[in-house]
Amino acid sequence: MRGPAGAPDGSVRPDTPALVDSFGRIATDLRVSLTDRCNLRCTYCMPAEGLDWLAGPDVLTTAELLRLLDVAVTRLGVTDVRFTGGEPLLRKGLEELIEGTAALRPRARISMTTNGIGLARRAGRLRAAGLDRINVSLDTLDPRRFAEITRRDRLADVLAGLAAARAAGLAPVKVNAVLLRGINDDEAVPLLRFCLEHDYHLRFIEQMPLDPQHGWNRAEMITAAEILDRLGAAFELTPSHTPRGAAPAERWLVDGGPAEVGVIGSVTRPFCEACDRTRLTADGALRNCLFSQSETDLRGLLRGGASDEDLAGAWRATMWAKLAGHRINEAGFAQPIRPMSAIGG
Ligand code: 5AD
Ligand code: SF4
Repeated sequence: MRGPAGAPDGSVRPDTPALVDSFGRIATDLRVSLTDRCNLRCTYCMPAEGLDWLAGPDVLTTAELLRLLDVAVTRLGVTDVRFTGGEPLLRKGLEELIEGTAALRPRARISMTTNGIGLARRAGRLRAAGLDRINVSLDTLDPRRFAEITRRDRLADVLAGLAAARAAGLAPVKVNAVLLRGINDDEAVPLLRFCLEHDYHLRFIEQMPLDPQHGWNRAEMITAAEILDRLGAAFELTPSHTPRGAAPAERWLVDGGPAEVGVIGSVTRPFCEACDRTRLTADGALRNCLFSQSETDLRGLLRGGASDEDLAGAWRATMWAKLAGHRINEAGFAQPIRPMSAIGG
């Protein structure tokens, strides 16, 4: 793993504990991938046979993760922790990890992005452990299409998981949807109707070039503009004036509100200048961007006996080296080596 160089423009990092970068952004939102494995095989994310999973000993243990979370929350100003995957519900000891995170002070907001399989059984326990909010991925409401997109016939489990999350008080329950041309791009309106009916907060996400098959193709991507167009045929959308802040979704009031819909135009409407994220992979690699070409091996430092302050210093240096943006729209853009499922959404 190649560690980060200094700031892109060579400037000197100010002496502050926070995760600042040379463009004036401050990372306060930590995304932690708990496993690269998944029980679905979404075609835009994984081949049918899955990927070469990380070996068990390479994955951070719960104790190691809690040590890094403690550094992030108590020394680096991280206020929001999101657990992702692969599929985070597959991670052994998840409730214990959430409990440990919730015990840190100052108390971070804790959220999770999941495919919802198995959530019906666990939502209550997760809430009790300290999980505050949840995002469930759902690209279609049609069982046959669900089985086509995810290569597993599990739509009913996801819908049951969503309902259980709401019943457990994991509010607001958010739904993430990716539209794929010719596959589910006629479902923008039905997905929004469904979410309005059940009080789930829907966000559409433009497909990004992060698949291991390198099959992403700009012309195939359903753009934010197209999504808004389709929704506009059935709903009256007006811009929501609650501030976007660092949240990537542009939000729209639906038929005058109060319900809203979000559209995350990662590719056509990048929000890099407001990015407040820092990312940790399941094997302890620190990334300053989804698309970064370098990582910092925090696991190596941790297992080599680094102190908390050493870890904090490496973390600060990594974030200081963050580039201005993802460059998807520039000539010569190269996908990161790790696919989305190994970085965490
Ligand atoms: N672009 C955008 N979103 C993606 N997801 C997975 N791969 C991509 C991609 N290439 C979404 C999943 C899930 C979340 C973790 O990220 O649909 O909602
Ligand atoms: Fe699993 Fe999410 Fe990838 Fe689908 S998109 S295969 S649910 S990690």
